[in-house]
Amino acid sequence: MTTTVRTRVAIVGAGPAGLLLSHLLDRAGIDSVVIDQRSRDEIESTIRAGILEQGTVELLDDLGPHSRARTVGHRHDGIELRFEGEGHRIDFAETVGRAVWLYPQHEVLKDLVAARLAAGQDLRFGVTAEAIADAETDRPRVLARDAEGRPLQIEADFVVGSDGSRSVARAAVTGSSQGGYFREYPFAWFGILCEAPPSADELIYSNSPDGFALVSQRSDTVQRMYFQCDPDTDTAAFTEEQLWDELQKRVPGTTLKQGPIFQRDVLRFRSFVAHELRRGRVALAGDAAHTVPPTGAKGMNLAIADVRLLAEALRRSLLEGDERALDAYPEAASRRIWKAQHFSWWMTSLLHVTPDATDFDRRRQVGELRSVVESAHGRAALAEAYTGWPFPS
Ligand code: DHB
Repeated sequence: MTTTVRTRVAIVGAGPAGLLLSHLLDRAGIDSVVIDQRSRDEIESTIRAGILEQGTVELLDDLGPHSRARTVGHRHDGIELRFEGEGHRIDFAETVGRAVWLYPQHEVLKDLVAARLAAGQDLRFGVTAEAIADAETDRPRVLARDAEGRPLQIEADFVVGSDGSRSVARAAVTGSSQGGYFREYPFAWFGILCEAPPSADELIYSNSPDGFALVSQRSDTVQRMYFQCDPDTDTAAFTEEQLWDELQKRVPGTTLKQGPIFQRDVLRFRSFVAHELRRGRVALAGDAAHTVPPTGAKGMNLAIADVRLLAEALRRSLLEGDERALDAYPEAASRRIWKAQHFSWWMTSLLHVTPDATDFDRRRQVGELRSVVESAHGRAALAEAYTGWPFPS
């Protein structure tokens, strides 16, 4: 026996994109059902990136006191680019008059889940989408299984696939689960969380002959750091002392404050954009539509930017019968997606050392870094992208 649920918008995936979309739709008076195959605890505890663009924080302000980005998070007015043993500050306030907030993604998710549950959202954890049917009709359906394995279908006016990089919804839009523009990189990040005081007030993006490192923070007592590694690295292959050696040699000229390491992970690098973002009454948003390498922390910000467009397009379509914004969604979203793709790729290539780098490549890279930090225009271009390009009105 299949249970059928009826709603206006079925949202597959309770990540930042899906949850924020359900909030914005609710604000417009449009009901939705959100499903996710993960448990609430899993969603709220998965460690991801930590930087929110100013526009992301402003949109999250709409959650009212549920958003703790400004109270628990920290505003950062700049970053340091470090190379050849010297730090160079990119001052966001001075160059573009904007800022970013250090506030980890799982905290954003806790805020969103709390806000949605408080608003009475139909939000179902442990429900696995298996396929999207009838995308090209006016009654698309999500075919799923609930936590007990029983079949469940959600009938809607529109379906949004915000179900992450291994999206099930993608196949209904692109015709295959892969279908996209794709690029891999010959390196990954080794990430750690440690108990130590901050080594710096702001993030340090460091290039060195041994590769890249990023010194980030989480709180006064917990720090997040990454160093460039081989994609096949086994997290257990290093002792704590070796990890500190690897990190320290990639940030020459500054001394890291060390402490016990309690979390290790390897983040793979890939760039991906789905060939299509919409088919009929199904659209993709967030990682289901695109993946960026982590350098520059664009992933969640880009997901939120998709949703900003999609929520308004759905409001006009479902409440006013005006399809133009929905028709324009793929093109409008793509513009920002490809700018973010370029920025993430560029920050990656600017700072990392490829395994086959020659002396020429090394010197050229330092030349490129200098042409950024020694130019007011170079610093401003980086700051504008990092803090998030303004949204067209
Ligand atoms: C973090 C991750 C990033 O990819 C980045 O560019 C900056 C910060 C982080 O996890 O803190």
